[in-house]
Amino acid sequence: MSMNKVIVTGGAGFIGSNLVERLLKDGAEEILVIDDFSTGKKENLHDSSKVHLVESKLEDINDLESQFKGYDFCFHLAAGVGVQYIMDNLSDSLLTNIQGTHIVFEACKENNIPVLITSTSEIYGTSKEESWDEETKSLIGPTTKLRWSYAVSKMIDEFLALSEFEAGNLRPIIVRLFNTIGPNQVSDYGMVVPRFVESALKDEDLVIHGDGSQTRSFTWVGDVIDYFVKLAELKSFGEIYNIGQTEEISIKNLAQLIIDTSNSNSKIKFLSHKDVFGDKFEDPTRRTPNIDKIVKATGIKPGYDIQTMIKEIVEFKRQD
Ligand SMILES: NC(=O)c1ccc[n+]([C@@H]2O[C@H](COP(=O)([O-])OP(=O)(O)OC[C@H]3O[C@@H](n4cnc5c(N)ncnc54)[C@H](O)[C@@H]3O)[C@@H](O)[C@H]2O)c1
Repeated sequence: MSMNKVIVTGGAGFIGSNLVERLLKDGAEEILVIDDFSTGKKENLHDSSKVHLVESKLEDINDLESQFKGYDFCFHLAAGVGVQYIMDNLSDSLLTNIQGTHIVFEACKENNIPVLITSTSEIYGTSKEESWDEETKSLIGPTTKLRWSYAVSKMIDEFLALSEFEAGNLRPIIVRLFNTIGPNQVSDYGMVVPRFVESALKDEDLVIHGDGSQTRSFTWVGDVIDYFVKLAELKSFGEIYNIGQTEEISIKNLAQLIIDTSNSNSKIKFLSHKDVFGDKFEDPTRRTPNIDKIVKATGIKPGYDIQTMIKEIVEFKRQD
């Protein structure tokens, strides 16, 4: 797949900015970044004459079709992200995820551009299945637990992508990302690793929500981007892939690892979910992907283990 002229929505965000850098390194001639800097930052984008930045909310762009003209591929990453951010901006993030994705698809259809969309492990909800593959049934909580709105909006994106594919109108690739970490991820919206690392570097308490026994798996952003690029090359249209690491760590052990790696004097403290988020919240106890499908399709296994990831993030935050 030709990747000379590429669109990255949300390109000033955490994953987007790492992707833009990688595409430039791979020799892309022109990258169109659309970002409203709601959670992303201009500084994340290196000055390059090859990056054309449109600073706007996606939904506010009237002539997206004509802006997309002549591009080879679209990575659609713009979304309201992060449990904290979603809880604080409920209807706005819902609309971005639904309306924003809809107009991106329309513009891709008009210009015959394939699109990769970033769905999420959240859509499995609190499934008790041992290992979550792409066909695992979802167990989403009630609508009164508002955190699930993010998951459902991403499910609508998936349905929209698959129905347009079935109708022969669009060439979508769907990836479901599990917790991704790395440089340029900020702590402001409730992401656990940057939050803990920043606290540890200031010798402040690391505050765990819940009792810390909940486990998560974390994936290095560079590994995630390797998969994006490979799936685009393979033209894996109409398919869904989990992307993540299978190695699990409890949040308590994660906190300790971060304290040890950064030689910090921080202590670990616990707060109940109710104290942090109120009654409108519930949290999965574990969340681990089955990645057989993507490993088989691409021949790539995620390279970074948790120790290496934490070491690199501590270094990055120290210099930040
Ligand atoms: N980081 C993760 O662990 C993770 C996990 C699952 C899914 N995802 C998905 O990956 C994508 C990228 O996430 P990220 O972690 O880089 O988050 P991020 O918040 O850093 O990136 C999102 C970017 O989109 C921009 N944006 C948001 N709403 C917009 C709008 N209406 N118009 C234009 N720009 C807008 C933001 O300013 C930001 O730069 C998102 O779609 C997210 O749902 C991420």
